[in-house]
Amino acid sequence: MDKILILDFGSQTTQLIGRRIRDMGVYAEIIPGDASLTAELPPELKGIILSGSPESVYGQGAAPDRKVYDCGLPLLGICYGLQRMNYDNGGKVEALPKKEYGRITVTIEGEASCFRGRDPNGSGEDPVQQERLRRFLSGFSAKEAGNRDGSFTAWMSHGDTLTALAPGFRQFGVSETGYPAVLAHETKPWFGLQFHPEVTHTGKGNEILAAFVFGVCNCTAGWTMEQYVEEVRMSVAAKTGTNPVLLLISGGVDSTVAGALLLKTLNPDQVHLMYMDTGLMRKGETGTVKASLEKLGAKHLHIVYCEDEFLGALRGLDDPEAKRKVIGDLFIGIQEREVARLGLPETYFLAQGTLYTDLIESGKGVGKKAHLIKSHHNVGSPLVDAKRKQGKIIEPLDRLYKDEVRRLGRLLGVDEEVVRRHPFPGPGLAVRILGEVTKEKCDILREADAVYIEELKKRGLYDEIWQAFAVLLPLRSVGVAGDVRKYGWVLALRAITSADGMTADVYPFPSQDLIEISTLITNTVKDIGRVTYDISSKPPATIEWE
Ligand code: XMP
Repeated sequence: MDKILILDFGSQTTQLIGRRIRDMGVYAEIIPGDASLTAELPPELKGIILSGSPESVYGQGAAPDRKVYDCGLPLLGICYGLQRMNYDNGGKVEALPKKEYGRITVTIEGEASCFRGRDPNGSGEDPVQQERLRRFLSGFSAKEAGNRDGSFTAWMSHGDTLTALAPGFRQFGVSETGYPAVLAHETKPWFGLQFHPEVTHTGKGNEILAAFVFGVCNCTAGWTMEQYVEEVRMSVAAKTGTNPVLLLISGGVDSTVAGALLLKTLNPDQVHLMYMDTGLMRKGETGTVKASLEKLGAKHLHIVYCEDEFLGALRGLDDPEAKRKVIGDLFIGIQEREVARLGLPETYFLAQGTLYTDLIESGKGVGKKAHLIKSHHNVGSPLVDAKRKQGKIIEPLDRLYKDEVRRLGRLLGVDEEVVRRHPFPGPGLAVRILGEVTKEKCDILREADAVYIEELKKRGLYDEIWQAFAVLLPLRSVGVAGDVRKYGWVLALRAITSADGMTADVYPFPSQDLIEISTLITNTVKDIGRVTYDISSKPPATIEWE
């Protein structure tokens, strides 16, 4: 399977490069920009992309392994990546008087035919590179999203520019401000863009990337979910042998799909699935997860009912951090107790539904400058740590993005309801019931949330929204039901759009839907007296209220 390697120098959009290429059916892998490369590059590697960076090449910016320039593979430098290639090969890069940011028009100046590439002996043209260049530039001639004169809008964000081209570099496109925007080398398969083709604001961005991946690198689209399943089948089976594998299921998409994948690729007799019903789940969640996994052939599904333990531990607590800590500790305690109770042999493997993005967010997997985003959410478990130390951890989704996991789930036959489900936080309803958590409040919130979500689905809004849920406020307010005074709880509805949960925009709810949903909730959930809609973005608010 052909592969493109992306060297990550810390740009916010490196992930998007990987996404776009995978969406074209080609496997893309991101590694830190300055990672050492093996002497022999694998034959499936067809090209290397150097990403953008917030740094400068003449400052703190990292440099790639020199082998990148010597390996003979096609290179595409994007923004800093281009500056890096130019600087490392004898060109000059300097600060702009003013940073260029946003949509900038780029005009292509030359055609392949005007490319007078020379062969290394200095005689005539280099027909091979000329052909590559012709194919690369074909990405710019796509009609869509371009202006009539062949110029197009590109997204830029740079404080430096190329002020002298390295020997062999030629400019093929220029920005409206007069800076080099599209470059290629005369004899080497090197290309560069000052703008970001991976960002949707760049018209023709996909076509340009595709021209590099297919036209220049000659990749064949072979990255399919079926193939992924086959690869997991071989790698996981080789690692685990006939030993038991235990997967901790949260009820969310990731762990359920991980369960489905293990059941499909291993002997179901080997696979143990453990799920904790904390009493802080959404309405009907345990039943849906159980039915879904049983349908997929689960033979050892261990459901631990521990509502009393969780609600008991939460009694009297109203501080958000105190609640989170108690829940985290209890998860760990119950997990250890229940795993011990299963009596699996020491040789068992522990599986987790970790995604590619989880690795990135935790700063573990890829990208030197990847920031820690979510560690405060994740319960560090001694059991997981111990198993990791023994080399007995399996993370069969660790090369997938969230929407790939959804695609995989569908392929494996996971219920649509689970596959489409919005994210849900580990501490569950406890962080959506502000103040003290009681069983009564959990039931009220579960009911109101279910009405809300059901209505979103009926109205065709659910899939437009990244995450929607209801929050029970520690407030009651006066209303009237029939002729009688009602003193009901106040409920907040939240609906956001987002790419990854790191930032979020308020979903612009059609007001009629909002009003009708509010009426339905107050009419059917008797303890709710009033409904409000949360119009806060992240930042400064977070998605959850606690
Ligand atoms: P915040 O509230 O930080 O949430 O904006 C971002 C995303 O993470 C989810 N979330 C959690 N997920 N354990 C989790 O597994 C947690 O403790 C947790 N807290 C928040 C939240 O639902 C949103 O999708």
